[in-house]
Amino acid sequence: MSQLKSCFNLDDFRVLAKSRLPRMIFDYLDGGSDDEVTLRRNQDSFSKIQLMPRVLRNVENIDLSTMVLGQKVDIPLLLSPTGQTRMFHHSGEVAVARAAARAGTIYSLSSVSSTSIEDTAAASGGCKWFQIYVWRDRQIIREFMTRCRKSGYHALCLTVDLPVHGNRERDLRNRLTFPAALTLKTAMDVMSHPRWLYHYLTSPKIEIANVASSAKAAVSDGGGLMDYISRQFDSTVDWDDVAWMIEQWDGPFLIKGIVNPQDARRAVEIGASGIIISNHGGRQLDSMSSTIEVLPQIVQAVAGRAEILLDGGVRRGTDVIKALALGATAVMIGRPYLYALAAGGEEGVDRMFELIRAEIIRDMALLGCTKISQLTTAVIFNAQEIG
Ligand SMILES: Cc1cc2nc3c(=O)[nH]c(=O)nc-3n(C[C@H](O)[C@H](O)[C@H](O)COP(=O)(O)O)c2cc1C
Repeated sequence: MSQLKSCFNLDDFRVLAKSRLPRMIFDYLDGGSDDEVTLRRNQDSFSKIQLMPRVLRNVENIDLSTMVLGQKVDIPLLLSPTGQTRMFHHSGEVAVARAAARAGTIYSLSSVSSTSIEDTAAASGGCKWFQIYVWRDRQIIREFMTRCRKSGYHALCLTVDLPVHGNRERDLRNRLTFPAALTLKTAMDVMSHPRWLYHYLTSPKIEIANVASSAKAAVSDGGGLMDYISRQFDSTVDWDDVAWMIEQWDGPFLIKGIVNPQDARRAVEIGASGIIISNHGGRQLDSMSSTIEVLPQIVQAVAGRAEILLDGGVRRGTDVIKALALGATAVMIGRPYLYALAAGGEEGVDRMFELIRAEIIRDMALLGCTKISQLTTAVIFNAQEIG
């Protein structure tokens, strides 16, 4: 705990995570595609937006609660789906879901998670979404929906920015495979992190928990887990497939990975209840714009017909405020909670929520706002320039 106490912002967890994880695991978490231009841009773009505070307003009581797809959250910061979370800390998805519930927010479980839909639901009663890809085998999608309904998942979130895998060169250089292949380089890497290695060896094997049996069969056929996943992603998917999924699910449905206003319009037309503006944290197509840059255009295109969320580069309370002021219902984070988990397990994620919550409250007070509904373009100094 003492080291967690010396984390004062989200980036401090990154530094701690780097020391705790083998290099190849940290790079998988931290990295982006190609030259990582979009990865950097996601964060840099937030700093170009300037805030315009008001003073002498009573800011004693600040309420961060808001509604997201009919669900009340105590903080407008949700957790994006990330696969194979137990790789970063043995407590994995269960720890993150519990910390999210304690913080009063929503956790999205990835379809390639290392803990199953059912086990995550059993561990945490908080509001959960399930992220889905369009798997080649449509029967898997139907089964996922049935399992999510039974386990009480509130919404489905379809990720659409992964028709093929992005080019993550850090992983190529590190020869990263799932499960990790033992080479001299990887052996030296993991052996220099004995605590991580101990938990890795003594915890149940890390698998794609939601499809463990079919994935196992594929891996024993000779292909790796990554091969199996790549084969399951269907690059022929189009809007009709998504419309079919929305109809099948018949509940709150979000599309994640939209950055183009025309796609946002189309998503609304086929019945999506929410859009997550995302470039997969700069892990897919490089040289895309940042997510905050496209937010105003998407807000205009959607015109209130669906809720808009955004992820990518959110690291500060002021980033959360900027996105909400420009029209997002809430924001989401991926890497920051994984850094916090790697740094200190469940306690680490609790500490992360404690810090970001305090930051948002302090920033709202300095801005002269006491409620989320007061975050409008009026608090942005250069709103014209951005819009
Ligand atoms: C290690 C890692 C694994 C991820 N796995 C998934 C996934 O399984 N499904 C998905 O839709 N997005 C996945 N993402 C993308 C995140 O959901 C999210 O869009 C991104 O991390 C947001 O950017 P940020 O990390 O700057 O907050 C992953 C991201 C990371 C860093």
